[in-house]
Amino acid sequence: MKLTEGIYLCGSGAYGLTPEGDCHCYVIDGGEELAMIDCGLQNDPQAILAEMEKDGLDLGRLRYLFLTHVHPDHAGGCQWLQKNCGVCVMAGEEEGKVLESGLQKAFNLEKIPDGFASYTKILRAVPDHILHDGEEIAVGALKVTAVHSPGHTPGSYSFFTDTRGGRQLFCGDQVFYHGFISLLAPPFSAYGQYLQGLKKLSALNADGLFPGHLLWTLRNGHRHIDEAVWNMESGQRPELKPFS
Ligand SMILES: [Fe+2]
Repeated sequence: MKLTEGIYLCGSGAYGLTPEGDCHCYVIDGGEELAMIDCGLQNDPQAILAEMEKDGLDLGRLRYLFLTHVHPDHAGGCQWLQKNCGVCVMAGEEEGKVLESGLQKAFNLEKIPDGFASYTKILRAVPDHILHDGEEIAVGALKVTAVHSPGHTPGSYSFFTDTRGGRQLFCGDQVFYHGFISLLAPPFSAYGQYLQGLKKLSALNADGLFPGHLLWTLRNGHRHIDEAVWNMESGQRPELKPFS
């Protein structure tokens, strides 16, 4: 689904594009090359490719998979895509270690109740490239910048690119529309670094904001990040508002 020039939504359980539980999976079209941002659960990564084809995106141009973090709903399909499409999987250092060892082993979750255990299983993979804060990656004619934005997980990364439509920011589960955040119990989230991570994203003054779940927006994306910063600095819980 084309969202704006150069930006597509090609996977999402919530929007019914791909199997239930998949996060929002975006594709950046830089012309000669494409980059996918997050890739959903491991159930059916081919469904994301099918959506890309429906949108007229040539799969032969798919070069990168940027991972915001390696929770199963964001990174479950990466092993399949790496093996079958030859994508270059890129993740931050801490997330890359979790991807390599597996979520269960990394967080000592092997003995948790069965009902939750399946969620923590992820097909392990070795990232092809470890990202560094501020690193710039050329995706065809577009330049994508990786930003270490700790909070939701200690190693979370966000990605921004400037298109003719403005500055587009892909923020994973770090911050959502209306300033919601996703804070997990330690050690899964980095509470002490969350505000710092949000402020880094706020300073980018994003136009489009494309989170891993819930709503995305093409305009004034920074307002939602600013709202999250204000909530956190003032000790307020995000106000529950209709999502409009
Ligand atoms: Fe997450």
